[in-house]
Amino acid sequence: MANLGWLASLAAAAVVVVALGSPFAAAQLRPGYYASTCPNLETIVRNSVRQSMAQSQISAAATLRLFFHDCAVRGCDASIMIVNSNGDDEWGSPDDQSLKPQGFQTVLDAKAAVDKDPQCRYKVSCADILALAARESVVQSGGPYYQVELGRYDGKVSTKSSVVLPHVDFNLDKLNAFFSGLGLSQTDMIALSGN
Ligand code: HEM
Repeated sequence: MANLGWLASLAAAAVVVVALGSPFAAAQLRPGYYASTCPNLETIVRNSVRQSMAQSQISAAATLRLFFHDCAVRGCDASIMIVNSNGDDEWGSPDDQSLKPQGFQTVLDAKAAVDKDPQCRYKVSCADILALAARESVVQSGGPYYQVELGRYDGKVSTKSSVVLPHVDFNLDKLNAFFSGLGLSQTDMIALSGN
């Protein structure tokens, strides 16, 4: 569980989450993925996240947590942002009910800002925008900068039943098992938890 110490360990934490990528994406992630299609991407997302943070003090923390909840289920594919017509959405699962709307709003606003740029319109995956918005949330909160590799594909599957997230009553064995299932070590878990 992240407490106020989350900022101190965000560099390690975010790098680990970013490294998770998506097991379902075929693309090779790289920093310059949008260099020709959307050269101002990182500036656009940075400015948008700054605006979100000016509107709500909790938007940065909410966005980082949203990124963790997305990455832990089917990889970092923005599946948590999907709204299905049948109402069976990942974000609707009981484990996601304490996610704050400000995190979703931060990502939606960043996506709107990206798509407003004629060069970038509809060329950047929501998964990459979420990853960049999480990084900017860290940096704009006073945390360290880290490079985000890009080129994630957006997921198409989002179901409540696919959500498996750690609970507050998990003991160490259960926490270790959960993070191990994501390919992460106990050291990674401690860094991510920010305690
Ligand atoms: C280790 C297992 C984890 C558990 C059991 C856990 C659980 C929780 C719980 C219960 C809350 C409070 C939600 C509420 O407001 O009611 C919370 C908040 C938060 N968590 Fe975690 N968490 C875990 C790991 C992580 C990780 C890995 C990250 C990100 C790297 C993260 C980021 C956050 C943030 C930023 C908040 C505060 C923002 C908010 O409440 O919207 N957590 N977590």
